[in-house]
Order: sequence, then structure tokens, then C-alpha cells
Amino acid sequence: MKILFIGDIVGKIGRRMIKDHLKEIVDKHNIDFVIANGENVSHGKGILRHHYFELIDNGIDVVTLGNHYDNKNDIRRYINSVDRLVRPLNLLHEYPGEGSIVYEIEGITIRVTNLLGNAMMPESVNNPYYALIDMLSDPDIEKTNIHIIDFHAEATGEKYCLAHALDGKVTAVLGTHTHVQTRDYRVLEGGTAFISDVGMTGLYDGALGFDKDSVTNKIIYGQQSPFVIPDEGKGVLSAVVLDVDEIDGRTRDIYPIYLVEE
Ligand SMILES: [Fe+2]
Ligand SMILES: [Fe+2]
Repeated sequence: MKILFIGDIVGKIGRRMIKDHLKEIVDKHNIDFVIANGENVSHGKGILRHHYFELIDNGIDVVTLGNHYDNKNDIRRYINSVDRLVRPLNLLHEYPGEGSIVYEIEGITIRVTNLLGNAMMPESVNNPYYALIDMLSDPDIEKTNIHIIDFHAEATGEKYCLAHALDGKVTAVLGTHTHVQTRDYRVLEGGTAFISDVGMTGLYDGALGFDKDSVTNKIIYGQQSPFVIPDEGKGVLSAVVLDVDEIDGRTRDIYPIYLVEE
């Protein structure tokens, strides 16, 4: 089975990249199942209900989130009424929705889990490893053929170490959040696929998918500068493809996609 995982979709250009390019990628790589991180889908932070459905209509099977899960209040009203949207599992507080969901495709069950990292992240969370192990050790949990984890975290070391700790227990630990695709993709000894960060889908010639001057004004010059997100511009689509053995849940191969428009 071939699974496509798309890195953080940012704003209108990110949504257009899905509309314009997802189908050709799915056809070219014989993709069976598509997951995408959608924490930045609506104006760069959060995901509105109609944007969630736009992604589903354009061929994404499951949408994961990250530290911006709650940036649009709209989500609290609709997350319990949709079945393909995964918010972080290891939140400290009660929150609607699920941190792990199971999707079935032609008799193959695929679990998708969203975890937030601890290191250098703005929100305090439960330990991601133990949150996951607690969930998996619940005798009532549905066992699945495949288990993909979106590990939404800042530090490459934390991401790799979680993957190492889970090697052989899950199909893949795929990093998101930094918006920069890394070169460290590989299948670990126990058959778990890993990449520190899948990267970003949105404005190519910007900073993190936002207008580069607006981000630079804040991060470099220390000004009060809201991040501006353009509606038009050349886009990039960042993703990885997993070739998974659906019988034993191990990954055979992982390779990146980094599609930059002409
Ligand atoms: Fe993001
Ligand atoms: Fe994030």
C-alpha cells in the first residue's frame, strides 16, 4: 500500500496546491491513502469547517493538526461531527475530538495519531511517548494493520528519539511543524519510517509559507508585525510517500516529494 503524507498546508496557496497538484501526484505514485497536516489551512492558523471539507473534497483522506489546533473557534463546534480530523492526542486538558482515529480502506485498517512535542513548543503537553503507549496498551483499543504518527514538534532530536523508541511498534513517525523538509528520511531497523520534518505546502518564496518581510519584521527586527499571508504566488508541495506492507504494518520504503511550481 502506498501512503502519501503532506506537510503543513498553509493558507490559500497551500489549499490551491492541493487542488492543482494532488491528483497528478496520486496517479503518478499510485497512492492509496492520503494524510495531510492541516493546522495552518485557514489564513495560516487553524482550520475552518469549510476548509476541512475542501481538503476532503480534493482527495485528502485524513487531516491532522498541531499546536494551532484551536486557533479557529469554529473547530470546537464541528470536530465531533466529522470523522477524518485528528487533533493532538496528548493535550493536558479536555478538548473535543479525537487524538487518534482509524480509517478503513479495502479491508485494511489504518490508525492515524497526532502528537505534540515537548521541546521548545508553546503549549505544555503530556509526555508524547507515554500518552501513545497508554493509548496502545488499552485492552479495548482497536488493533490496526497500519499506524501512522504525525509528530508535531520543533526539535529534531526529540523527533528522532521518539521514532527510535517506537521503532517496530508503529508504521511511521513523521515530523511536522518546522515547515522545512529534512533530508533524514529513512526506514529504521524495526520497519518504522521516519523523517524529522515533511515540510510545508504553500508559498514557495516566503518564510514558513508567509510573506517573508512580515515574518522578518517580527523575528529579526523584533517589531509587532502580524504574519501576512499572500493569496497568490508560486507554490511548493512537500510530502513523503510510504510504501507499506499492510500485512505486518512495516514500511518498505520512504521517499520525499518536493514539488515547486514553475
Ligand atoms: Fe505548521
Ligand atoms: Fe505547528
